[in-house]
Amino acid sequence: MDYQTQTLVVSNPTDDSSAIEKAADLLRQGELVAIPTETVYGLAANALDPVAVKKIYEAKGRPQDNPMIVHITSPQALWELTEHIPDSAKKLAEAFWPGPLTMILPRGRLVPDVVTAGMDTVAVRAPDHPVARAVIDAAGVPLAAPSANLSGRPSPTTAEHCKHDLSGRIPLILDGGPCRVGVESTVLSLVTPVPRVLRPGAITPEQIQEVIGVVAVDPAVYQHLEDDAKVMSPGMKYTHYSPKAKVVLVKGEWEKCRAMLREQTEPGVWALVFEEELNSCPVAAFSLGPKENPDAQARNLFALLRQLDEKGAQVVFARAPLDEGVGLAVYNRLIRAAGFMTLEL
Ligand code: TXA
Ligand code: MG
Repeated sequence: MDYQTQTLVVSNPTDDSSAIEKAADLLRQGELVAIPTETVYGLAANALDPVAVKKIYEAKGRPQDNPMIVHITSPQALWELTEHIPDSAKKLAEAFWPGPLTMILPRGRLVPDVVTAGMDTVAVRAPDHPVARAVIDAAGVPLAAPSANLSGRPSPTTAEHCKHDLSGRIPLILDGGPCRVGVESTVLSLVTPVPRVLRPGAITPEQIQEVIGVVAVDPAVYQHLEDDAKVMSPGMKYTHYSPKAKVVLVKGEWEKCRAMLREQTEPGVWALVFEEELNSCPVAAFSLGPKENPDAQARNLFALLRQLDEKGAQVVFARAPLDEGVGLAVYNRLIRAAGFMTLEL
């Protein structure tokens, strides 16, 4: 891990085809490349090359028991990755691919152990970013890609975030601009008796329900799980998305929250509030976005967590977003950034 990390701007895969070719060459040689997707930037490797995939764990400092999502461009590629494609997967691919939905399916024989962390299932998605799609097609192989951050840090939503975390650790970052969604894909298990959302994202449980009927939401989306609890998605048991500051999720009316904030006198206190509240906030604060606009909150969240670090924030009081629709994803990431510490006012 001692690279001169290069960043290439790709505004359009057709005009910038040499950058796409360069990324594809590196991936075929077993190297890592950070690529933009519509959710967050991914750190990609050839999913069928165990030596390459192993480098991802090293570059990120990722626990070896946390499996990765395999990225493809068309549902046809599912045939080489899974043993069996349930009807529900076909319907969901039709409805939401390309897009921010990851499906957990029975693992096929071609998928190396290092991708699935030894599990008998595999996570697959078809991203909806023209650069990600062009790179997968040019490489000609499925790409294993977790978020392109150092393990435990907020996921990267710009090339700058990737550079900050991975400079010197990988040869190439493709800069496709800021991510449209801003939080990671919805992870849906199709190997449970009732399909189950393991991680909420831009595709909501309500939308999934419309296509395949009843869907469960895993309790780990809302609650802390004991370290040794049996978790369906290994990623759910790690502290995540953490800025260096201590984060507290605050529930309740703004007036009560303001009163609580007015009493905070120690240095380094910050707040993450809704846009409507920014002007009347008694401590230093960033706006998460309008209260009724979870899409904007999703887009802003991870960049804000990084900015709070740059500001040297020690304690961050974050307003709890409405946990409906895409808001559930924002709520889930914030409560995990807070290590499940909440304050009810
Ligand atoms: O939007 C996204 O999903 C981004 C972009 C790059 O595609 N990727 C991403 O990957 O967020 P990562 O590795 O940061 O998160 C993948 C999550 C983890 O929580 C992991 O535990 C879970 O998916 N996962 C992967 N394979 C799984 C499996 N076979 N069974 C259960 N959970 C799995
Ligand atoms: Mg991640």
